Amino acid sequence: MEMRPIGRSGIQASGLALGCWAIGGGEWWGDNDDRMSVETIHRALELGINWVDTARVYGFGHSEEVVGRALKEIPRDRIIISTKCGIQWYDKNGEPHFTKEGHEVRRDLSPKAIRRDLELSLKTMGTDYVDVYYTHWQCRTYGLVPVAETMGELMRMKEEGKIRAIGASNVDLRILKDYTEAGQLDVIQEKLSILDRRPEAELLPFCEANGITLQTYSPIEQGLLAGKAPDDYVPAKGEVREGKAWWRPGNIRIANEMLAGWKDLTEKYGCSLANLCVKWNSMLSPSVNVLCGARKLSQIEDTARSLDIPLSREDFLRMKADADRAIARQVP
Ligand SMILES: NC(=O)c1ccc[n+]([C@@H]2O[C@H](COP(=O)([O-])OP(=O)(O)OC[C@H]3O[C@@H](n4cnc5c(N)ncnc54)[C@H](OP(=O)(O)O)[C@@H]3O)[C@@H](O)[C@H]2O)c1
Repeated sequence: MEMRPIGRSGIQASGLALGCWAIGGGEWWGDNDDRMSVETIHRALELGINWVDTARVYGFGHSEEVVGRALKEIPRDRIIISTKCGIQWYDKNGEPHFTKEGHEVRRDLSPKAIRRDLELSLKTMGTDYVDVYYTHWQCRTYGLVPVAETMGELMRMKEEGKIRAIGASNVDLRILKDYTEAGQLDVIQEKLSILDRRPEAELLPFCEANGITLQTYSPIEQGLLAGKAPDDYVPAKGEVREGKAWWRPGNIRIANEMLAGWKDLTEKYGCSLANLCVKWNSMLSPSVNVLCGARKLSQIEDTARSLDIPLSREDFLRMKADADRAIARQVP
């Protein structure tokens, strides 16, 4: 497994990380066999994936509980854990984010809130530190909580040894610059798939120039780019794919047509469509770390092979051109 540094933190991580949102289950993903989820995390480690990502809000704490169960059976220093703060459903502070499963979820990046989040995460996972601590979503109202205040608290957590590296997620360039001016930011986590490449224009060049890792989430568009959705699939109410641009009527077919055109590539490299798309992400830049979700052994065993695919530069560019044509046809 190819290793890449996490920013300037000194931490080396596998270039592919395991996402544990689906492991949280609930309305977004449907409930899981938790023992299978624990086995999936352990299998990921055996296959060389040493970075596992979760968040306080995934399954309203359930994802962290399952990660905690997996942690009990392995030496703590074998695994890099990232989790996220600033999304809360405990009080009325902060800005409304969404309502789910009866919880009014709010964004709150105040020092007090993120400190409470960290203590809850540590307790839930049964550990005394997290390796990477992300702010999950940024203030809707710019400056409502100044980034310098949030960052000040994160830096205190780092001095205390409770977190090893600071990350931010779902940022724009202005917010990213605010973080870097306030302290050492090592990583950002942003949505990026071959069909949705927004961070490529501004965020990626900034990361490259400033020694920051760009961890890309939903690289296979929540399973779509594994080629598993029928053209007429309609996401159930409340499920994670509901309302997502590429899962709308018409767009699944456009994506499937693009994927059908890569049959010769899956044959040439002896790999899956998911492997092609994950590898494509990692080839964007040495600053990229690819974060792909899995909750079954079969998924992680397939996905873990991705970075070993010797995808040529020519095929990388051909995939990009095919994706550009699909993006141009996307139904709004
Ligand atoms: N910071 C943020 O705001 C944010 C937002 C979204 C995600 N994330 C993080 O990024 C991670 C990954 O993103 P994601 O889970 O949204 O999307 P993703 O990685 O594109 O898709 C993961 C899903 O695809 C399916 N899958 C995975 N491997 C497969 C394979 N080899 N073959 C066929 N299907 C496969 C599984 O769905 P099924 O089990 O349903 O088949 C899996 O749960 C999350 O787990 C989370 O840690 C962060």
